Amino acid sequence: MENTTQQEIARRRTFAIISHPDAGKTTLTEKLLFLGGAIHKAGEVKGKAGSKAAMSDWMSMEQERGISITSSVMQIEHKGLHINLLDTPGHKDFSEDTYRTLTAADSAVMLLDVAKGVEAQTKKLYEVCRYRKLPIFSFINKLDRDGKVPLELLDEVESTLNMSCYPVTWPLGIGGTFKGLYHRHTKEFHWYQIKDGELLSEVYQLSGPEDKKLEEIVDDQGLIEQFREDLELLEVALGEFSEEDFLTGKVSPLTWGSAKYLFGVDLFLDLFADYAPAPQPRDGGNGPVDPQDKDFTGFVFKVQANMDKRHRDRVAFIRICSGKFERGMKVQNTRLGREVRLAYANQLMAQDRETVDIAYAGDIVGINDTGNFLVGDSVSTGKKVKYPQLPRFSPELFAKIRKRDMSKRKQLEKGLSQMSEEGTIQLFYDPFIGIQDPVIGVVGELQFEVLLHRLKEEYNLELELQRSSFSVARWPRTKEDVAYEGDIKGNMTTLVDTHGEKVVLLDKEWDLQWAERENPDVIFAKSIEPQR
Ligand code: G4P
Repeated sequence: MENTTQQEIARRRTFAIISHPDAGKTTLTEKLLFLGGAIHKAGEVKGKAGSKAAMSDWMSMEQERGISITSSVMQIEHKGLHINLLDTPGHKDFSEDTYRTLTAADSAVMLLDVAKGVEAQTKKLYEVCRYRKLPIFSFINKLDRDGKVPLELLDEVESTLNMSCYPVTWPLGIGGTFKGLYHRHTKEFHWYQIKDGELLSEVYQLSGPEDKKLEEIVDDQGLIEQFREDLELLEVALGEFSEEDFLTGKVSPLTWGSAKYLFGVDLFLDLFADYAPAPQPRDGGNGPVDPQDKDFTGFVFKVQANMDKRHRDRVAFIRICSGKFERGMKVQNTRLGREVRLAYANQLMAQDRETVDIAYAGDIVGINDTGNFLVGDSVSTGKKVKYPQLPRFSPELFAKIRKRDMSKRKQLEKGLSQMSEEGTIQLFYDPFIGIQDPVIGVVGELQFEVLLHRLKEEYNLELELQRSSFSVARWPRTKEDVAYEGDIKGNMTTLVDTHGEKVVLLDKEWDLQWAERENPDVIFAKSIEPQR
């Protein structure tokens, strides 16, 4: 019997992996797809690159640099669940799109390298998850290699992120001495070994870490003792696992493994299936919208322009928040105040475009767009909704336009405004001078390149950028969280953003600390809520 819409929605699980480059996101993704039956042998995800014919400059730019600009969505079926894995651009040149993708997820997996712990990019992405109170799983990768001492690493994660971890699995040995993983809930010991490139594994049911059976399985008393000591400490330090604390982002269930050798990936996937939340009600502007609502609603979290240069098409990525999507349906775009047809939908599986006819709350659909959508737009078939947008975060890199052709001023203004509306860049400017001479802010280098590339392709503008010395932007607010209108002491430049909000730009974190001390009434906000 076919599932009902309610059942389809209830079995959706949508998540993203957050990590620092090289932690193993591609490898883990590949193995999850493999275990979920989406691909038949590991390596297919990467292998696909370059094999498609009609690829735009966009794609070639992406490939030359070995990075993923195209955020794609992959599906896994596991334990009766339909799991959507949102890919987040993972190169060090990551962009604001990476942040935005997290608004489309219902949970996240924080992937750490056992030797490196919490790295810069992971921390930034973690903060966005935290802001959204997103439930976070943790997976410590590369256990086949030597790394930090497990208990110390756990401490480090907790103190760096100010979040509690709840280890569900625990390693016996690490790197060259790695023997397997103990599952604290099932009390199973999962023994792993790589022999002639093949994974050998065995599961032993124990009565607990003290079970003498361990001595028969593992021939290293020292390791076993260390393992038992660790677990004893954990038992004392940790209480029961609280699902509520997990669902509100306070506690992260943590597992260990090696994506490369498939150690513990199955255990992680099972844990994910047991605890990852289904789509939850979201604030639709007039109260929460239940995913099971019969009306279709959703919001655009990303607009990808120019994927196919010949057609100048754009793809708007919509996260469905309630109801059922049907290809060709008509929906209200709340911002435009009129109906638009969701004319063509793509499900993006790696680089294949596969047309989908039906999708449900929790899913992501790619809509071919002729200019009807902006990041943050809400759509619905019933009463109007307005889903909150992701706040704008402080950029970290800033530039000014060095060379310009004055005869093309109007074009430049138009191009810059569009790129900023689409969320490609942020603009800060002096209201007396206007938008044509802005400070451009981004979180990743790649965004500058995308800007220059698109201004050239779409507006015939050849620009050069000059790096500015700013590295921090803050929105001055009062304690009541309204714009601060008074004078501010300190070494900073005051401009406005494209919403007319006052912004201060500073060269260094240090200047900010000084300003914070000198202006105790001012809150220097790192992010700002968009106006509805
Ligand atoms: P990323 O997407 O997070 O940037 O990381 P990616 O999966 O590309 O992995 C980065 C490197 O780490 C790769 O090595 C990959 O094989 C390796 N790696 C991933 N998971 C594990 C693991 O569990 N154990 C070990 N030992 N290595 C792991 P590479 O040398 O850059 O590429 P390759 O030649 O191995 O493909």
